[in-house]
Amino acid sequence: MRMRKKRNLESRIEACGAVNLGWLQDYASEMRGENIPEIITSEKVFGNSNPIHLEIGCGKGQFAEEIAKRNPDINYIAVEQNVNVLVTAMERTRDSGTPNLKYLMGMAEYLEKVFEPGSVQCIYLNFSCPFPKNAYAKHRLTHQRFLDIYRNILAPGGVIYQKTDNAPFFEFSLNSYCDNGFRMRNITFDLHNSKIEGNIITEYEAKFSSMGFPIYYVEAFPQKN
Ligand SMILES: C[S@@+](CC[C@H](N)C(=O)[O-])C[C@H]1O[C@@H](n2cnc3c(N)ncnc32)[C@H](O)[C@@H]1O
Repeated sequence: MRMRKKRNLESRIEACGAVNLGWLQDYASEMRGENIPEIITSEKVFGNSNPIHLEIGCGKGQFAEEIAKRNPDINYIAVEQNVNVLVTAMERTRDSGTPNLKYLMGMAEYLEKVFEPGSVQCIYLNFSCPFPKNAYAKHRLTHQRFLDIYRNILAPGGVIYQKTDNAPFFEFSLNSYCDNGFRMRNITFDLHNSKIEGNIITEYEAKFSSMGFPIYYVEAFPQKN
């Protein structure tokens, strides 16, 4: 089913200017010769040499905006495949003028086309879609095919920060980290009542915790580090 586009979407995206780094493209669009994306570096995109942190599936971008404001010496790039929600995030950042946050439109499957090996210091997976049916397991952002991508683009010492309200997806993720040579630390089944400090609430987190669901959290890192 094709996603219905919001009215004026193209003009709203256009008006976001430099906050928008463009489309993360798949092989089909590349074959058609559309806008082959450039490799992203801090120097090229932000004009400095600060580390790059990535959020995958940023939704409307509340988390990305807040974490970028708190850490002006880190460059943040937020990725989202649903442009209908991403446009709201890009508009907020354009209006706030937060200089260290930019956005990529498209699917995490193609991150290696724009990030060189070892070029990303950490990755945030906030309330990623759980895809409950096993037939769709390969779309879960902690499936082996994504962990292989993260292992490649993460710098030595790089970490994945994941939180979710979904227990079966959390269990799947812990197993997937384990089976694919990632180690884990700071695992909690109730982030909001844990010792972990500095949590930034996302849109989905606010919704699910107000409904009384506990938030699961883990930090995972490739074993070679
Ligand atoms: C449940 S929402 C969570 C949004 C936000 N992180 C939050 O916590 O409020 C998950 C988001 O991940 C995005 N997403 C899922 N799979 C993706 C992929 N392969 N690449 C990029 N974004 C993806 C979805 O479009 C959706 O907006």
